[in-house]
Amino acid sequence: MSLRARISTPEEHGSRGEDGHLVASYRAKLLEEIDLAEMSSLAAADRRARLERVLGHIISREGPVLSTVERSQLIRRVVDEALGLGILEPLLEDASITEIMVNGPDAIFVERGGRVEQLPLRFVSADQLMQTIERIVSTVNRRVDESNPMVDARLPSGERVNVIIPPLSLTGPILTIRRFPRSFTLQELIAFGSLDEHMVYLLAGLVQAKFNIIVSGATGTGKTTLLNALSGLIPAHERIITIEDSAELQLQQTHVVRLESRPPNVEGKGQVTIRDLVRNSLRMRPDRIVVGEVRGGESLDMLQAMSTGHDGSLATVHANSAEDALTRLQTLASMSDVEVPFVALHDQINSAVDVIVQLTRFADGARRITEIALLDSHGSEPYRLATAARFEAQPMTPDGRVHGTFRYFPLPRRTADRLYMASQPLPQAFGVARSADQLATREAR
Ligand SMILES: Nc1ncnc2c1ncn2[C@@H]1O[C@H](COP(=O)(O)OP(=O)(O)OP(=O)(O)O)[C@@H](O)[C@H]1O
Ligand SMILES: [Mg+2]
Repeated sequence: MSLRARISTPEEHGSRGEDGHLVASYRAKLLEEIDLAEMSSLAAADRRARLERVLGHIISREGPVLSTVERSQLIRRVVDEALGLGILEPLLEDASITEIMVNGPDAIFVERGGRVEQLPLRFVSADQLMQTIERIVSTVNRRVDESNPMVDARLPSGERVNVIIPPLSLTGPILTIRRFPRSFTLQELIAFGSLDEHMVYLLAGLVQAKFNIIVSGATGTGKTTLLNALSGLIPAHERIITIEDSAELQLQQTHVVRLESRPPNVEGKGQVTIRDLVRNSLRMRPDRIVVGEVRGGESLDMLQAMSTGHDGSLATVHANSAEDALTRLQTLASMSDVEVPFVALHDQINSAVDVIVQLTRFADGARRITEIALLDSHGSEPYRLATAARFEAQPMTPDGRVHGTFRYFPLPRRTADRLYMASQPLPQAFGVARSADQLATREAR
């Protein structure tokens, strides 16, 4: 059920049956006919009157024969639902919008196709915006007020909602709604130009040969989306355990266990962290552990798991480059309560991490794999990253697009051997380096 549907029918929606269908279909027709910009300029009472009038026309035009009472009940219910989230309604209805950002009552931005644009819409007042916000957060039994001015929640329908209000926000109540990410297949990502066939071929071999893979990127670069697509390459007979802060992954395999962490309750108790879940998952006989995002001390447990027989794990980390991802994992691991010397962490990363896939969001909104790097160092050696594929961007064209080409480089001998031992074909586009100087390597500390 969508956010809108859930909010407008908080009780047992099943009991509404046919009637509910009628309401939903008229609401959709109504939203099609109204002029949004005009609606947002009206005061609440006028808006209701206007909607009732338009809906009256629609029902007379094509509706079933109804008694006067039935007709006014229907109109009332449809309009109530249409007004449930006010001017956000049609935005939530629009599947091409991936993010809605409300910066106070006067500024509403949306992200569409990776680009952010401001809409000519506004709430009548900060109060009206607050009412809408309260309506949304109350569906997950949360409260937002002065003593509780920040709320971050996942709605039952999957949308992620974040609210922050004054005095913390200086420009009125701020609402951010991230739509539940659609999952894309690797073929769809190829069509977007995010990677190409050769890279998919390589990645498929790496996943199937159980390399440990870290997907790295900044916020909103498509880490979760790629992690989901890559997880789809895991063979169906393996037991997969997914661990996330807010469950977004949608694996298609049958043998999947999904775990989700839990924030502390109002009394500050009952918290279950990603770290707790990673530790617990090791006792669940996983073939693969997939961690949605590593952002704390769980880094250590994950690295330990990866280097002690739980091969083929996948995770994402927030970082701007492959070397940055290594540093970040190391820093996060040092944040755990177990004191591990930095040198030991370095060794651990060298033995745990095999591949880093770097994602970048370009100025034109496109998300691409900008590097596939293999970690080719051992033990206490400095990190040595061998580039297998890289996106080389050209300057932005006048229409604001970024074009470029993917380039491939020879794989380290060790990687090729591992693929071979796992009966994975060698991706021809890359080839194998015969000596170290054929590798596109660089050192990182
Ligand atoms: N390759 C892609 N091409 C186009 N759109 C994409 C691509 N990958 C992801 N997206 C879209 O970008 C948005 C962000 O994607 P996603 O949630 O995967 O990013 P993320 O890096 O995990 O974000 P966060 O840092 O918030 O966890 C979603 O709307 C998603 O559908
Ligand atoms: Mg994510």
